[in-house]
Amino acid sequence: MIQELYILEMSERNDDKGKRIIIGVSTLFLVAVVGAIVFGISLNESGSNGNGDNVNNKKEHVTASVKAVQTLCNPTNYKEECEENLMAGVGDSTTTNPYELIKLAFNITIEKITDKFEEMNILHDIEKEPRAKMALETCRQLMDLSVSELERSFIGMSEFNLMSVDKILMNLKVWLSGALTYQDTCLDEFENTTSDAGKKMQDLLTTGMHMTSNGLAIISALSDTFTNLNATKLLGRRLFQDSESPSSVNNGGLNETLILNRKPNVTVAKDGSGDFKTINEALNKVPKKNKTPFVIYIKEGIYQEYVEVKKNMTHVVFIGDGGKKTRITGNKNYIDGVTTYKTATVAIQGDNFVGMNMGFENSAGAEKHQAVALRVQADKSVFYNCSMDGYQDTLYVHALRQYYRDCTISGTIDFVFGNALAVFQNCTFVIRKPMENQQCIVTAQGRKEKEQPSAI
Ligand SMILES: *[C@@H]1O[C@H](CO)[C@@H](O)[C@H](O)[C@H]1NC(C)=O
Ligand SMILES: *[C@@H]1O[C@H](CO)[C@@H](O)[C@H](O)[C@H]1NC(C)=O
Ligand SMILES: *[C@@H]1O[C@H](CO)[C@@H](O)[C@H](O)[C@H]1NC(C)=O
Ligand SMILES: *[C@@H]1O[C@H](CO)[C@@H](O)[C@H](O)[C@H]1NC(C)=O
Ligand SMILES: *[C@@H]1O[C@H](CO)[C@@H](O)[C@H](O)[C@H]1NC(C)=O
Ligand SMILES: *[C@@H]1O[C@H](CO)[C@@H](O)[C@H](O)[C@H]1NC(C)=O
Ligand SMILES: *[C@@H]1O[C@H](CO)[C@@H](O)[C@H](O)[C@H]1NC(C)=O
Ligand SMILES: *[C@@H]1O[C@H](CO)[C@@H](O)[C@H](O)[C@H]1NC(C)=O
Repeated sequence: MIQELYILEMSERNDDKGKRIIIGVSTLFLVAVVGAIVFGISLNESGSNGNGDNVNNKKEHVTASVKAVQTLCNPTNYKEECEENLMAGVGDSTTTNPYELIKLAFNITIEKITDKFEEMNILHDIEKEPRAKMALETCRQLMDLSVSELERSFIGMSEFNLMSVDKILMNLKVWLSGALTYQDTCLDEFENTTSDAGKKMQDLLTTGMHMTSNGLAIISALSDTFTNLNATKLLGRRLFQDSESPSSVNNGGLNETLILNRKPNVTVAKDGSGDFKTINEALNKVPKKNKTPFVIYIKEGIYQEYVEVKKNMTHVVFIGDGGKKTRITGNKNYIDGVTTYKTATVAIQGDNFVGMNMGFENSAGAEKHQAVALRVQADKSVFYNCSMDGYQDTLYVHALRQYYRDCTISGTIDFVFGNALAVFQNCTFVIRKPMENQQCIVTAQGRKEKEQPSAI
């Protein structure tokens, strides 16, 4: 069987170096999973005896299937739900292929969440309270984002190959963690609403959240197993190739930025000397399924507009005339009735975004409490030589991988916060004067589950 071959080969390699691997049963299974994934082979634990009658074969299959599900669910935080959902999903097919089981787990998770969209729409009583209504609206957007992270994880499973297991496991961890963060934020948005809307939403989302957490736990366990067994060594590669580690995501993005002497695709200028007067008009020109840098040069000026680089606007590049010269500014805030998430002056969701020589601002002031200048939810996004200015909650590093280089961020409370994998290199953090009763806090990392690969 494939897992035995896989282990055997590994033991031999290790014997060469005079080492022996002692592997527990569950580890063995996880290695088998990796093997199955890598080699794309079905693992049929039963059925080895060709002479059994059909009933016995079937029984063995069921037992093997149950065992496979149990082992896969072992590292999860919500074991019972994991087993229940997978068993129900497996149904009569009695598959033991862990690869199929993981895909099934993702599929069930997506279904559990999308099912609830309808129910969200009929929470009519929520609509009476403005803050709760806004939270509900935010939740719909967040659940869309969450589902799209789950979907790309599902697709990512199909792209496994021998040379990129580590890379793909890392991607899956990041994306599933993002999916979970979006769900968490949805519930956070209901904080301090007076109706029982938050409680209702929690009831709706619990299963989906547990399933997402379980998916992340399973992938993390696979990833750990893979790392501990030095499987990459076996495959003749280092862990986390240059193009994938946080620091080098960055180098990739940074190089991309620095070689951008190319002429912009569109120019925005307040004075009418460019193609457009507003940034949002320029964003409408981003082509569908964009794969190459779409450079928007934003000339010196104060742009009073709320900008959203949507999920489907990928590889967008903003280049300004300097952090103090090209500035996007707004003043939405919590005290005036906007939920934290929606206070952002600029929101970036399209992957591979690059921002350079730009300023992002929320000018609401310390007395207005939460007021986000920039919210980032774009995987492999890069900000170079930028300014983010605000007071409480200036820079929301919400989810996925982000890199900040030579930036200046100012604020009072929790002014860099969120649950992304965010790297800040040679950045300056400027603490502003808070209100009398406030104390300043620079970073507030928001990890909810230990498996999340997030950090500031
Ligand atoms: C595993 O079992 C499935 C049916 O359950 C069969 O289609 C497949 O060929 C088997 N694979 C191997 C490697 O025996
Ligand atoms: C998920 O499962 C449903 C059936 O439960 C199936 O119709 C659908 O094709 C599956 N999705 C994918 C992407 O396999
Ligand atoms: C919610 O209310 C509590 C007390 O009423 C307060 O301490 C907390 O800061 C409020 N949360 C937000 C997000 O304003
Ligand atoms: C993996 O490699 C590291 C260092 O190269 C070594 O310390 C460790 O013992 C190895 N692990 C196994 C299971 O061989
Ligand atoms: C943007 O500009 C680059 C280089 O100038 C060009 O290759 C690319 O096709 C342009 N994109 C669009 C959508 O026009
Ligand atoms: C992105 O999606 C929105 C709907 O959410 C759509 O209106 C817009 O045309 C899409 N843009 C691109 C570039 O595909
Ligand atoms: C960074 O921004 C400053 C002004 O804020 C500008 O003088 C400098 O040229 C920028 N650096 C690069 C490499 O563009
Ligand atoms: C660090 O950032 C400052 C601007 O804030 C810049 O002048 C300097 O060159 C940067 N240093 C490095 C090593 O990149």
